Amino acid sequence: MAIALSGFPDVPGGRAVAAGRPHGPVPVWTTEPARDREPGEPAPSEQDSQGPGHETQAASQSPGRADAGGGCAGEPDETSCQLNSRLLRKSLAQLEPESENVMAYFFATLFLRNPELRPMFPLSMDIPRRRVFGALTRYVWSCDHPESLARWLSELACDHRKYGVSESHYRPFCDALLATVEAFSGRAWTPEVKAAWEGALSYISTIMTDAAHGAQDEPPWWLAEVGTHDLRRPDLAVLRLRFDPADPPHYRPGQHVSVQVSRWPRIWREYSVANAPRADGTLCLHVRAIPGGRVSNALVHQTQVGDTVLVGAARGGMTVDSVTSRTVVCVAGGTVLAPVKAILDAHASPARPPPLPDVRLLFGARREEDLYDLPDLRRLAGTCSFLEVIPVISHDPAYPGLRGTLPEVTARHLPPGAGDVFISGPPGMVTQTAAVVAARAPGARLHFDPPGPATTERASGRQAGPVS
Ligand SMILES: Cc1cc2nc3c(=O)[nH]c(=O)nc-3n(C[C@H](O)[C@H](O)[C@H](O)COP(=O)(O)OP(=O)(O)OC[C@H]3O[C@@H](n4cnc5c(N)ncnc54)[C@H](O)[C@@H]3O)c2cc1C
Ligand code: HEM
Repeated sequence: MAIALSGFPDVPGGRAVAAGRPHGPVPVWTTEPARDREPGEPAPSEQDSQGPGHETQAASQSPGRADAGGGCAGEPDETSCQLNSRLLRKSLAQLEPESENVMAYFFATLFLRNPELRPMFPLSMDIPRRRVFGALTRYVWSCDHPESLARWLSELACDHRKYGVSESHYRPFCDALLATVEAFSGRAWTPEVKAAWEGALSYISTIMTDAAHGAQDEPPWWLAEVGTHDLRRPDLAVLRLRFDPADPPHYRPGQHVSVQVSRWPRIWREYSVANAPRADGTLCLHVRAIPGGRVSNALVHQTQVGDTVLVGAARGGMTVDSVTSRTVVCVAGGTVLAPVKAILDAHASPARPPPLPDVRLLFGARREEDLYDLPDLRRLAGTCSFLEVIPVISHDPAYPGLRGTLPEVTARHLPPGAGDVFISGPPGMVTQTAAVVAARAPGARLHFDPPGPATTERASGRQAGPVS
């Protein structure tokens, strides 16, 4: 099936972007002024690694060595790394109370110096501001875990390809960040703090540009056609997306993808995939229209069969392959049923090797009519002896079945020996249910990947479980 790209005027072009990227050594961000290299002159990363004592030497090492140093300037011994991460944490803590001003200043600086970068960002900068500050916070608090830090930065870099970010953008971005931290640090801007930030930004740029370079065989996004659009509630639709069957996006059950609609160029929103991977490559999304929400309303109310959307690479750690126990409990609220449904779908697959765990699903909503996917879930349970589906209603005293909020009902109905517990729902419900499970079944492994509005909490790295 050939899907025509239409309605996305300024989206960087899928494979064309990846294929057009130059090969060869990846220059990193340094504080030296930019200049064109002479023919045959090595990239900065090569020069810097040629001798000790250069200001940016450790920061511009290959990711492998930089891993060991966690983004330290100077020799990457443990003491200097600890010192640098302490300096960075202290420095960022000073910026934290005025993070909004800091980010407003940063983007103003970036766009003033590089007006050509403005069109890459959405009109409203609230979310990018929160997310970039969140990323810096996550970085300085993760310096001591270089492997997971590098994994996260690499994933972030691969995702940045869908925004049209290329290697040459890192330098102006990091220059503006450094100028911003300096402007807000006052007397705390010492040579040591400056060196720590330079090292950190150079490390981040190196990891990100290398990762983007390594991902050039994978498209930054996939084009999908809306195959079915089922308005299940006045504010909720289930969409089935079709891809070129020769090249669908890969994902694991429980993960989410980002989606862009042609009505809102440059705005990407995440939606959980509600099915296990299928031979035909189609994937289902359950979308609830948020009052005033741009992408969700476009998907629920302004999208028809045959329309095209862009889909980014799958992300998220709440996946089916993390199940190890024989008794699994899934707790899902509202539309956030989707990732749990994908996990159930994967368990129900005839391809899944035994032994199959017993799975209990507590599916909660305010009112019975909000249980928009119950018929499908019951059908699934009808074919799988291991699956028990229990609807839970919180706002209807006359409901004859289980009543209460999901955390309350989980407390009462957690089966003995619950080994893996998947929790999916609005952030408050996830936190409360996780606390209940931790208290009642301290041995259980918790898995969650809290969806919701793009929040600093998420950007700052509260990762999907397992957390115990
Ligand atoms: C990992 C992850 C998975 C997700 N999976 C799903 C899913 O499967 N189905 C689904 O419908 N949504 C899901 N979401 C939420 C989705 O990504 C969007 O945040 C949501 O659709 C709103 O986007 P919008 O562009 O319509 O709203 P915007 O235009 O960004 O926001 C408009 C207004 O609504 C507020 N708002 C934004 N999001 C929410 C929200 N979720 N609840 C309440 N108020 C909000 C904003 O603060 C703003 O005031 C998920 C989010 C994450 C992070
Ligand atoms: C220091 C390196 C960088 C870090 C840590 C960083 C961090 C982030 C984060 C955390 C997000 C949110 C993305 C998400 O949650 O999926 C984001 C979005 C984005 N970044 Fe970066 N970024 C970096 C470099 C750059 C560069 C060099 C550019 C290009 C100028 C850029 C452009 C963008 C754009 C366009 C978005 C999308 C904003 C939106 O739609 O909300 N970033 N960045």
